[in-house]
Amino acid sequence: MIKKPFIVGNWKMNLTLREGVEFAKSLRNSLNDRNEVICGICPSFVFLNDICKVLKGSGICVAAQNIHSEKNGAYTGEISAIMVKEVGCTHVLIGHSERRHIFNEADAFINAKIKVALSVNLKPIFCVGETLHEREDEKTRYVIENQLTGGLRGISADHIRDIVIAYEPVWAIGTGKTALPQDANEVHSFIRSFITVEYGIDTANSLYIQYGGSVKPENAGDLMAQPEIDGLLVGGASIQLESFLEIVEVASTH
Ligand code: PGA
Repeated sequence: MIKKPFIVGNWKMNLTLREGVEFAKSLRNSLNDRNEVICGICPSFVFLNDICKVLKGSGICVAAQNIHSEKNGAYTGEISAIMVKEVGCTHVLIGHSERRHIFNEADAFINAKIKVALSVNLKPIFCVGETLHEREDEKTRYVIENQLTGGLRGISADHIRDIVIAYEPVWAIGTGKTALPQDANEVHSFIRSFITVEYGIDTANSLYIQYGGSVKPENAGDLMAQPEIDGLLVGGASIQLESFLEIVEVASTH
């Protein structure tokens, strides 16, 4: 199965509303009818409504950066899956390492968020990744397996098809250190074997596995050249339109 590269920009807590809307308009104009790559952006919650309007009908996906695990209720300050779906999001980041490590999100909470997202047809981009310490202790596979087991608990094969997995080694996020493309590929291959065992080969082959962690225009080509890397989750380099477009351009040749 030929998969179009899926390139997503995670803006994190950056840009102003005006900058975000301008970015979205320019992205739409620049990509125009190009369809060799599937592209997406993850703006702040408060920009989602405006940005979804700008990108409506463009084929560019909009993802929320987070959701709460409950459908609704007394959770002051939280945002539900249905709320982001209602404004036009197609995807949502779940289990990003900044949420796991800064906000102490555990696998069971992440699992509940994945389930609530799927229940409203919002596609989770489920992030997994080991810390430097864990890698040095040769625990990468152990950590990834635990995150996959905990995060995907109780999710059926039908639903797995709607999930994108993003492998983001924590030590590579925002640090300028990228995993060697071959090392990243090895972890991707491990993730795909896990999915094969749990859900079968067809599901595993159709699954998108993105790499994230200091992706830049200069390393995007080597990463995308790896057979198990189906796309990229880009943080810092996605905030500037030029570098994000360069990454999309590089990915379009793979
Ligand atoms: P980075 O972030 O590209 O700035 O390392 C990636 C991410 O956190 O998704």
